[in-house]
Amino acid sequence: MSAVETARASVGDGRAPELPVIAIDGLTKTFRLPRHRVSTLKERALHPLRRTVYDELRILQDVSFTVGRGEFFGIVGRNGSGKSTLLKCLAGIYRADAGSIRVAERLVPFIELGVGFNPDLTARDNVLINAVMMGLSPREARNRFDAIVDFAELREFLDLKLKNYSSGMQVRLAFSTMVHTDADVLLIDEVLAVGDAAFQQKCFDVFHDLRDRGRTVVLVTHDMTVVERFCHRAILLDEGRIALVGDPIDVGQRYLQRNFEAPGPLPEPENGDEPGPEPPRVRADIVDVWVQDAVGRRVEAVVHGEELEVHCLYESHEAIDRARLDVWIDSAEDARVFGASTMDWAEPPRAIGVGERLHVRVRLRNPFVDGRWHVGCSLLAGSAGQDIVALDNRAASFVSYGARDVYGLARVEHQLSYDRRPAEGPG
Ligand SMILES: Nc1ncnc2c1ncn2[C@@H]1O[C@H](COP(=O)(O)OP(=O)(O)OP(=O)(O)O)[C@@H](O)[C@H]1O
Ligand SMILES: [Mg+2]
Repeated sequence: MSAVETARASVGDGRAPELPVIAIDGLTKTFRLPRHRVSTLKERALHPLRRTVYDELRILQDVSFTVGRGEFFGIVGRNGSGKSTLLKCLAGIYRADAGSIRVAERLVPFIELGVGFNPDLTARDNVLINAVMMGLSPREARNRFDAIVDFAELREFLDLKLKNYSSGMQVRLAFSTMVHTDADVLLIDEVLAVGDAAFQQKCFDVFHDLRDRGRTVVLVTHDMTVVERFCHRAILLDEGRIALVGDPIDVGQRYLQRNFEAPGPLPEPENGDEPGPEPPRVRADIVDVWVQDAVGRRVEAVVHGEELEVHCLYESHEAIDRARLDVWIDSAEDARVFGASTMDWAEPPRAIGVGERLHVRVRLRNPFVDGRWHVGCSLLAGSAGQDIVALDNRAASFVSYGARDVYGLARVEHQLSYDRRPAEGPG
């Protein structure tokens, strides 16, 4: 572990980092795919000496990271970036070409629909066999059978062969079996993608519980709100290489950026004399966005009910005649709980000059319940504010804490009261 990694590992759970439970160093994985397969007798007779030529597909390249005991560790990346391959190497399903993988504790994988499940057996048999494969004794597996089935809510379908299960039902059963084993390290690949809303909520409850009990979890997901909510750290894989390690919020943001970038390099001009396409001009920079407390200190956390101030600093690269300024605050699940705007001002901010800096502030009493909150801001132009000059949906974040007597997303001014009446006697 590098010094930086060690420092970060201790941030999430507040404990001093211990020896890593998983240490991966220089992992490289290549698949060899035959380019031309000799498949018929005639071909073999015609080309007796033809050797099969292979294409080498380098899927993982020099991947190194560590996961500490009790860490909730996220792996994100676009489709085909190598996440499942990495998990399969970790689980020992694939052999790496180079590099080392060390896992210090007992590990169970939940990797793909039905890995280790036999479609021709009933759900009942599959659960018992799978639980034993995951390290339980046959007696323990029988003892936990009811809990596994109840968690998956599939009691009525126990004697159905697995091949007749829907993909969502298979995931429920496999995930339920996994969480009822005693493994120290859980590898989880996209469990949320196929479950319905009720099952997703169950998964979240399990994630909370695993985190609280200090189990080590490596989670692959495309849901960045889940990464932010549960992970202590995360990595971003990009074409088989680690593009970023560290804070889940940074990793999530980079992942989203990477998703919406144009694929591949910009096109070259066709002949050398013609200029290429103009790169898009940056019309204004969002220089800085931050949150302050009542006495003007930059803060990461704000007590519920206290004053807070959101600041956004822009630098304009073009003259803006009529500007519209917006600042908003979203929950971790992207609910927009509050937004402030100059949209209806009789006198909109006018005549912002080239190179001018614009400092926008919003002051409010923190109404938000406990959790992480994201600040977004935009600078729009045009009479109807139709022209985006600068926009960042998640420019900064803070944690709210200390909310009492309320729940939901935010406090609404209210009075809660009751009165009592003595019971009326009979007759
Ligand atoms: N057994 C295999 N043989 C050949 N190529 C494979 C094999 N398994 C995976 N690949 C290739 O490796 C690359 C990475 O696949 P992988 O399944 O690890 O991606 P992923 O990041 O999990 O993607 P997704 O988000 O879609 O689940 C893909 O190009 C895929 O085609
Ligand atoms: Mg995958």
